[in-house]
Amino acid sequence: SNNQRTVDERLYSICELLEKNITYYNWVGFYFSHATKEELHLGPYVGAPTDHTVIPFGKGICGQVALSHSNFVVPDVKAQDNYIACSITVKAEIVVPIFKNGKNIGQIDIDSNTPDPFSQLDESFLEFVCEQVANILS
Ligand code: SME
Repeated sequence: SNNQRTVDERLYSICELLEKNITYYNWVGFYFSHATKEELHLGPYVGAPTDHTVIPFGKGICGQVALSHSNFVVPDVKAQDNYIACSITVKAEIVVPIFKNGKNIGQIDIDSNTPDPFSQLDESFLEFVCEQVANILS
């Protein structure tokens, strides 16, 4: 729909803003849960293209957040056994769920080329971003 195009443009702008202004945010994107299947689907993103446009619930950091409904901060991706590598330059990752009317509908996913860069401030800030995102989604 016309409105969906506007939403995707706004989500892309959020990715751009975050990637441009926060030096250790090197890949910024959204994944959204499929309406019926237990899968995440890649939405707007900024950074290197990824082969992982569909991620089953439970698989990788993103898939685990789809089930846990909790933030997942990974200071060292090499220390994770259930991790999906998108780029060899990535050292750390943070995934924060997006709730709409109390339901986990997707997430923001951020990769960093810096080891252990994420603090509680990133979590609080990204929770705020995700609340704003939920408000623009229909
Ligand atoms: N690393 C993620 C996959 C998505 S890429 O980071 C873009 C994971 O383990 O779920």
